[in-house]
Amino acid sequence: MKSVAIIGAQWGDEGKGKITDLLSERSDLVVRYQGGNNAGHTIIVDGKKIVLHLIPSGVLRGDVTAVIGHGVVFDPQAFCQEMITLKSWDGDIDASRIKISANCPVVTSYHHLLDRCREEHKGGVTIGTTLKGIGPCYEDKVARRAVRVGDLLNKQLLSKRLAAMLSEKEYLFTHLYKAEFPTLEEERDRLLELGNLIRPHICDTFSLVDQAVAKGKKVLFEGAQGVLLDIDYGSYPYVTSSNTTVGGIFTGGSPSGAAPEAVIGITKAYTTRVGEGPFPTEQLGEIGEKLQSIGGERGATTGRKRRCGWLDLPLLRYAIKASHLTSLALTKLDILSGFDQLKLCTGYHYQGEMIDCAFPGIDLEQVEPIYEDLALFDDKFEDGISEKSLSPNLKNYIKRIEELAGVPVDILAYGPGRDQVIIRKTFF
Ligand code: IMP
Repeated sequence: MKSVAIIGAQWGDEGKGKITDLLSERSDLVVRYQGGNNAGHTIIVDGKKIVLHLIPSGVLRGDVTAVIGHGVVFDPQAFCQEMITLKSWDGDIDASRIKISANCPVVTSYHHLLDRCREEHKGGVTIGTTLKGIGPCYEDKVARRAVRVGDLLNKQLLSKRLAAMLSEKEYLFTHLYKAEFPTLEEERDRLLELGNLIRPHICDTFSLVDQAVAKGKKVLFEGAQGVLLDIDYGSYPYVTSSNTTVGGIFTGGSPSGAAPEAVIGITKAYTTRVGEGPFPTEQLGEIGEKLQSIGGERGATTGRKRRCGWLDLPLLRYAIKASHLTSLALTKLDILSGFDQLKLCTGYHYQGEMIDCAFPGIDLEQVEPIYEDLALFDDKFEDGISEKSLSPNLKNYIKRIEELAGVPVDILAYGPGRDQVIIRKTFF
């Protein structure tokens, strides 16, 4: 294959960074195309952990070009901090391989502030955002008044763009939220300085990917968040502000030749969610706490505890349809090892009917999950994991998910390391 996409099939945090890291071994470019540093992609190499937020996970492979496409909302300060983390993780990292689209909207101090004001404002809808300014920045993009990365290199243009952006916000900060905010000059000077630092990375990433594809290079698209957080397909309004589904690839960074041939949906063997919003299979008692503690379920970006529950097949089936997923990567199977009960949600009772697939507009607060009990497993894999070494009950758990989902599980992960994964199909 020439192009493959990695997409979160749940509410984010499914382990996309880890799968991207693995598949990037054989790819030439890894492209982020939506979201921003609200993402937190955790990767463990030789027992050493790194969390990437904005820089594509492929950067950890020495010869991969890591591309931040124009669909990403770009926080230059967060990027510079992440570069420091990356360099302290690996002093030899070749930073020239990181490319940023000149057309990415820039996350400014005003977006951060607005995000916080809205979340704290009594009477507004509390989404439980990551407070990274993502939603307000996408708002400005759509309203055609965003500062874009290329503007950071031109003082006059930047002043003009900031003036347009600040005109309404100034009123909101002063009169509605009563919040202090940086002056236009302060923000301009801060951004100009950051623009200077990131200058070597800025380019036309569309043409870069296009030319690479024309030369036969292999492209991996790395999604952020998950299908159920998609602005159009997700559990609105408790969603993020971008298209986390496959459509985001087309609008956020892919020339025609790079359209993905395989779209891998990443799903945990159970379900988690951070922030507000409905969660049909959430377990509030002992099971939820066990999943949370054994699974280390805390947000990689905000440190918030993740809500936990059983795997929800009606939602997974919906994600498969909404994002054209061709197969699944099933992560964190090891967390379920040794549990004294194991359940899959196979359908819902909803408005007097039984349904097996969610759909847009369904009221997830009103569904009643139908569960199936599965045989327990307790695999250890002390001599390494292989297809042959899977116990019958573990195999059965995976097979049952395949049956209910209607697509194959092509990748399975039984631990955080690169060597705790089985890849059942050759993608590149
Ligand atoms: P925002 O993207 O910061 O605006 O947050 C909107 C919603 O998406 C909140 O419920 C966040 O918790 C959630 N969210 C955003 N990014 C991630 C992520 O990378 N993983 C999981 N949830 C996320």
